[in-house]
Amino acid sequence: MKKVILAHPYSAEAVERLRRDFELVLADQEGGLPACCRRHADAEALISFLSDPVGRDLVASLPRLKVIANFAVGYNNVDVAAALERRVLVTHTPDVLTQATADLAMALILAASRRVVEGDALVRAGDFHGWQAGLLLGKELNGSVLGIVGMGRIGLAVAQRARAFGMKVVFYSRGPKPQVERKFGFARVTFLELIRSADVVSLHLPYSPGVHHLFSHDVFALMKRDAVFVNTARGPLMDEAALADVLARNELFAAGLDVYEEEPKVNDRLRKLQNVVLLPHLGSATGATRRRMAMMTVEAVRQALAGRKPKHLIPEWKERLKKK
Ligand code: GLV
Repeated sequence: MKKVILAHPYSAEAVERLRRDFELVLADQEGGLPACCRRHADAEALISFLSDPVGRDLVASLPRLKVIANFAVGYNNVDVAAALERRVLVTHTPDVLTQATADLAMALILAASRRVVEGDALVRAGDFHGWQAGLLLGKELNGSVLGIVGMGRIGLAVAQRARAFGMKVVFYSRGPKPQVERKFGFARVTFLELIRSADVVSLHLPYSPGVHHLFSHDVFALMKRDAVFVNTARGPLMDEAALADVLARNELFAAGLDVYEEEPKVNDRLRKLQNVVLLPHLGSATGATRRRMAMMTVEAVRQALAGRKPKHLIPEWKERLKKK
């Protein structure tokens, strides 16, 4: 039986499926992923999580590896160049988490704009002493401008939700998106135009070193003073210390974060601020979505180990196959 390494436990149904066809090794029971890979160097598939660095050394420690099935849509935890060099297929889990992640982005936009978490804390602390005209005043979404940075699947799903809240949507994307502009009427603007004009900025682009700290101190400084900043994409897209600075000085209204630069670490100063909502990377965290993601990784392993082309290869692999 071919050997498959699963980095951490997930859907029981997916585990059972894997066990039908493969010898399944659970890395958590083998001293963690790097030690497990050394011990099971004959493994042919690896199911990794976004929290697992799958670097060059790890790839090299599995000489028979045919596929890395990453249990996430983002795959910046995987050294793609090393995988391509070794002809190891890499798959991810697009589409199935789009709606769940867009819901969570919307939840952060609403929570940060309307001070939902501050209100909850106030009530729990016994500090609600009756309705007051000036209590916890927030920002209205209706009529405000949402700037979507990265108009992919998730960005578009957030934009559609925001429209139902009466927001005007503008977006920044590297390439033109004529269909999005035509079909939905969302306007593509330059990065600077977006940063300067948006009342809410929401990040929806994949991380790569080229966009490290895209949201730097200088960029935060250009945003409106009463803007809301939301990141459900990847932590290193923003300079967390710079964000803490501007929030502490009330140079932004509020922020909502689901991701951090060095997860699970969160900047200490951010944790002490009231005007930021902090979630523990929950974008795709619904039972139904996580199940679909898990089954997608099972399918990817089955396809790759049967010598077929997995359906959800990462774009870099699709490009490579196109060139052939
Ligand atoms: C979550 O962050 C994902 O990339 O799936």
